Amino acid sequence: MSTLAIATAKEVFDLIRDDLLVIEQEFEQACSSDVSAVMEIAAYLREGGGKRIRPSLLLLAAKALGYQGGSAVHLGAVVEMVHTATLVHDDIIDEADTRRGRPSPNKQWGNSKCVLTGDWLYMQAFRMALEERNFRILDLLIHLTQQMVEGELLQIELQGRAIQEQEYYELIYRKTACMFRVSMQLGCVLAGASPEVEERMGEYGRNLGLAFQVVDDVLDLTATEDVLGKPTASDLREGKATLAVVHALENGTPEDRAAIHAVLADRSFLRVGHERVLEILRRNGSVEYAMQTAYAYAETARAVAAGLPESEYKRALLWVPDFVVAREK
Ligand code: IPE
Ligand code: IPE
Ligand code: MG
Ligand code: MG
Repeated sequence: MSTLAIATAKEVFDLIRDDLLVIEQEFEQACSSDVSAVMEIAAYLREGGGKRIRPSLLLLAAKALGYQGGSAVHLGAVVEMVHTATLVHDDIIDEADTRRGRPSPNKQWGNSKCVLTGDWLYMQAFRMALEERNFRILDLLIHLTQQMVEGELLQIELQGRAIQEQEYYELIYRKTACMFRVSMQLGCVLAGASPEVEERMGEYGRNLGLAFQVVDDVLDLTATEDVLGKPTASDLREGKATLAVVHALENGTPEDRAAIHAVLADRSFLRVGHERVLEILRRNGSVEYAMQTAYAYAETARAVAAGLPESEYKRALLWVPDFVVAREK
């Protein structure tokens, strides 16, 4: 653990509250269209809340490096819109029925409208990014979008079977950690940081994002839908082996392995119940193993932040990894 003073949630929120409000306004203004489905679906998700962690990272990175201009809120809105587009598409792919504690957009509007609205949101985000007239920014965002799409495709290919731990990390880098990395990098670009600093801040984002998705996957196994605001045990029901499950497959008894294989192959708890899987994971220390892995990634991120010049933004960046691993939703 770092011994450096770490901020509190309230301090961090106070630090970026005004900017986050502007980001909400930019997001809202950007989603005006003559076509009602676009406006309605975008507004529905925006009003549904969400942690706004990606724009927060972008703001903190830019400000920790001394940036004071207006482009951070602009690009903050861009990354939250890209994130929103990926959620709209992800819920179609996962056939999810809840998101942010409410019926998911695909349930409310159907797949066809949601596919198209997701596309519209991507393009609107890129149009806004284009206003910066900076190829480096576009390059990062295009790379990011392709990584995320490849991540979702890779996930479909790996569905229904036991995967290696390395495949799991590759997957969660693409689908989640890359966006955390790019959010940090965009803050660096605005601040005119050197390639070395951008690389280090990107590493903070990558490690934080890996911790974030490992925790997300643990919560899918252990949380309740009421708290999480989205379906639980959905990964197993979709045939997705996440870190704790991969660990149990490698360390469990032959019976444990057979039980998990059955759930992944069936994509249901018909033959082997959810409770039985949880018992297997707990007995093999698999949930603990996944959380320890998340703590280690969070600690690596914190160590990078520790190298920043002293500021309240640095203290905030030291706090975020704690928040990510301790969160309940
Ligand atoms: C959900 O991201 C998608 C994942 C990468 C797990 P968040 O957990 O950041 O979702 P919101 O924006 O807070 O709802
Ligand atoms: C999240 O994947 C990655 C995205 C690109 C949205 P998940 O399918 O695990 O995320 P949730 O659980 O639906 O938020
Ligand atoms: Mg999903
Ligand atoms: Mg998914």
